[in-house]
Amino acid sequence: MIIAIDGPAAAGKGTLSRRIAEEYGFHHLDTGLTYRATAKALLDAGLPLDDETVAETMAHKVDLAGLDRAVLSKHEIGEAASKIAVMPAVRRALVEAQRAFSRKEPGTVLDGRDIGTVVCPNAPVKIYVTASAAVRAKRRYDEIVEAGGSADYAAIFEDVKRRDERDMGRTDSPLKPAEDAYLLDTSEMSIEAAFQTAKSIVDTAL
Ligand code: C5P
Repeated sequence: MIIAIDGPAAAGKGTLSRRIAEEYGFHHLDTGLTYRATAKALLDAGLPLDDETVAETMAHKVDLAGLDRAVLSKHEIGEAASKIAVMPAVRRALVEAQRAFSRKEPGTVLDGRDIGTVVCPNAPVKIYVTASAAVRAKRRYDEIVEAGGSADYAAIFEDVKRRDERDMGRTDSPLKPAEDAYLLDTSEMSIEAAFQTAKSIVDTAL
């Protein structure tokens, strides 16, 4: 059983995917972390972010078992990740590892931008989670403030829109809902309501 969850940055895919994986006892992979880990390895080694061959080599070295959100959550890493994510050779390397993960038993939940369209096009359950850019920016702002940090809403809003443009505008695997994906707009929905909706979609497919 493979559950594919896609959507733009800060739509709530991560929280939703973790809860679904927990509910059904499935393995979960946040594929954004694979792009982030590749980007961080390049940044740490002082290597350029615009050399596809170098980035591809790093992508092959990513260990899916060692992905740690806490180490990879920094804003600069996310920005660098979305830059190298436009490179076909990087995507090929990471998609291969993600597909291998998707076959784990008893089932998997993968979340990202191209799971339902490219990584697992035959997944029996596909959910495209979205929310307006303003709502997503507000959620990210609240997260930072609640964690005791200081944040600038206008800057976050611009950042969310820029990330959307880059993810939706690239030629290789642009972010878009699969034709057979269930569209879940969480703009006016609580996490709990989104989870219950997702759960009923999965239950019908089981
Ligand atoms: O979701 P997250 O913000 O961690 O992803 C970081 C970047 O990795 C995204 O902006 C996107 O460009 C890229 N990504 C991707 N395909 C995926 C997951 C993430 O291109 N399946």
